[in-house]
Amino acid sequence: MPLEDCRIIELPKISDPRGNLSFIESGRQIPFDIQRVYYLYDVPGGSDRGSHAHKKLHQFIVAMSGSFDVVLDDGSEKKRFHLNRSYYGLYVCPMMWRYLDNFSSGGVCMVLASAHYDEADYIRDYDLFMKKVLGDA
Ligand code: TYD
Repeated sequence: MPLEDCRIIELPKISDPRGNLSFIESGRQIPFDIQRVYYLYDVPGGSDRGSHAHKKLHQFIVAMSGSFDVVLDDGSEKKRFHLNRSYYGLYVCPMMWRYLDNFSSGGVCMVLASAHYDEADYIRDYDLFMKKVLGDA
């Protein structure tokens, strides 16, 4: 899938002096059914996460606290997204190489995913990813 399919999706925001509220529903605000939620936290400054692609997995990434960057690479183009609010997130489609960096202190990255954890869905080798993108593997 091309990089243009990955995009920032703004979430509903119910502004309230008592504290704001946002929500995410399967198949409504995001274009897939949610099967799994995981989150990265206590990330030491300067560390990178990710550096892999998924064959079939769809994901939606939200900065629940603090900020970080997500770099997406479809094999021909790269794009860096800065996430720093909990009322929007980044939709990441399958076959997209990604890494996360530039975590602020206290940064919490929540990921909604379209399937349970499956190591067989990962491509962890960039050369293999490029071969698959080019149809050679
Ligand atoms: P990984 O996806 O490689 O982390 P990241 O992309 O954030 O750098 O996962 C790190 C480890 O955690 C790996 O051993 C697999 C395990 N893991 C699970 O058991 N379940 C999960 O849902 C996820 C995302 C990872």
